[in-house]
Amino acid sequence: MALTFTFDPVVTPGLRDGVLDLWVDVSNAGGAVGFVPPVTREDVRPGLVGQWVAMAEERSRLLVGHDEEGRVAAAAFLTLNTHHLMTHWIWLYTVMLHPRHQGKGHGRDLLAAAERAARTLDGVEAIRLTCRGGLGLERFYASCGYKEVGRVPGAIRVAPGDDRDEVFMLLPLT
Ligand SMILES: CC(C)(COP(=O)(O)OP(=O)(O)OC[C@H]1O[C@@H](n2cnc3c(N)ncnc32)[C@H](O)[C@@H]1OP(=O)(O)O)[C@@H](O)C(=O)NCCC(=O)NCCS
Repeated sequence: MALTFTFDPVVTPGLRDGVLDLWVDVSNAGGAVGFVPPVTREDVRPGLVGQWVAMAEERSRLLVGHDEEGRVAAAAFLTLNTHHLMTHWIWLYTVMLHPRHQGKGHGRDLLAAAERAARTLDGVEAIRLTCRGGLGLERFYASCGYKEVGRVPGAIRVAPGDDRDEVFMLLPLT
C-alpha cells in the first residue's frame, strides 16, 4: 500500500515520537542514518532535537510518510545551506523508511516526494546527499536519478577496522 507523504507537517508530540521511533527502529535494523546498532531513544533524541531546532529556525524542513494505519513510516529532512554562495542547492538528510516497509518501492516514492518538495523551494537547483559506502545505497540513489559526484575514502568509521567511504550523490533539478 502506498504511503502518504506530507511536506512541512504540523509538528505534534505524536509526530515527534513517531519520527524518533522510526529513527531508532531503522538504526537498530542496520540502516545507515548516523548510528551503529544498538541504539536507544536517548541515543537518537539529541540529533532529532537538533533537527526540530533547525526547523524552528527555518533552516530545515521535514518530509514525512505515513502508512495506512497512520504510523510514521518514512522521513527525510530537506536542509538549506547557510553559506550565501550555496543557497542554490539543498541537503537531503536522514532518508529513512521503516524496516517493515523496505524493499517494496516506498524508498523510491520517498525520494520522488523529496524531489517534488525541493522543486517548490525558490531558487533551489539541486539536491545533494551523502551515503555510507559498502551497503549498495549508491544503487538505490542512482535508481532515483542521483549521480555519484565524489567520495571520501574511509571517512566513516563504523567500527575499529571497518572504515567506509562517504559517498556524495547529486540530483540536478534544472
Ligand atoms: C534506503 C531505503 C530508503 C531504500 O528504500 P526501499 O523501499 O528499501 O527501496 P526501494 O524498494 O524503493 O528500491 C528502489 C531500488 O533501489 C534498490 N535498492 C534499495 N536499497 C538498496 C540497497 N541497500 N542496496 C542496493 N540496492 C538497493 C532496489 O533494489 C530497487 O532497485 P530496482 O528498481 O532495480 O529494483 C530504505 O531501505 C531504508 O530506509 N534503509 C535504511 C536507512 C538507510 O540506510 N538510509 C540511507 C541513508 S543514506
